[in-house]
Amino acid sequence: MIVDKVLSQSELFAGLPPEAVRVFAGACQLRRYPKGAVLFQKGDPGDALYVLISGKVRIYRESLAGKLKTLAYFHPPEVFGEMSLVEDRPRSATAFAEEPTELLVLFRDYYLQIIRRFPLLAHNIARIIAARLREMNDEVLFLTFEEARSKVAFALLKLHRHRHGEPREEGWFVPIVHQEIANLAGTSRETATRVVHELRDRRIVESVPGGLLLRDLEALETVLYGI
Ligand code: CMP
Repeated sequence: MIVDKVLSQSELFAGLPPEAVRVFAGACQLRRYPKGAVLFQKGDPGDALYVLISGKVRIYRESLAGKLKTLAYFHPPEVFGEMSLVEDRPRSATAFAEEPTELLVLFRDYYLQIIRRFPLLAHNIARIIAARLREMNDEVLFLTFEEARSKVAFALLKLHRHRHGEPREEGWFVPIVHQEIANLAGTSRETATRVVHELRDRRIVESVPGGLLLRDLEALETVLYGI
């Protein structure tokens, strides 16, 4: 079954027996959302964790002035919504379906039952949270201290690291517009466009229909570190 196959690839089940996947799947609800649906908004009560089975989800926050900051894109079999589940507090950010999306939803009562039986699952969730905090520390450093060029390079490399997009013969294709690059990099759209043009002139990226082609990831790394 496709759900079990996707689940077994999730970091949630690292080191756990196949039985844990079956028990988990049996305790979840399957939900489908159309493209453009808001799964939940920042501040909503949150008592469930999600595992992405198909589709793509964007997590973002909005500033008081209405500017968006994209925090993450999630792809199968990634997990999100774990913060409210673990903390018993409202959602820390908004989740938006970028594509038609299928999700497994695990409510807190079932979560508490499952971790009694498979305690390693709780440790795996702690690992997921730690990895996100580690990545966020890097991001804070780049967004705080570095130039726009490094911020854009960081955003593009993060998308590649999270497998956002697809491999093509000439590089990695990222489906993205300049405004969204700005939302990720914490710059204005004009600045994001200026940097993309500069990277394009250096043949590090290429503008293609529907997005950007990352042609030279090594060169993008050197841009990241201001070399
Ligand atoms: P929760 O607060 O329940 O709802 C929003 C979810 O977005 C949150 O759980 C995490 O799963 C996810 N999230 C929030 N901030 C980040 C971040 N900085 N990086 C990756 N994922 C995040």
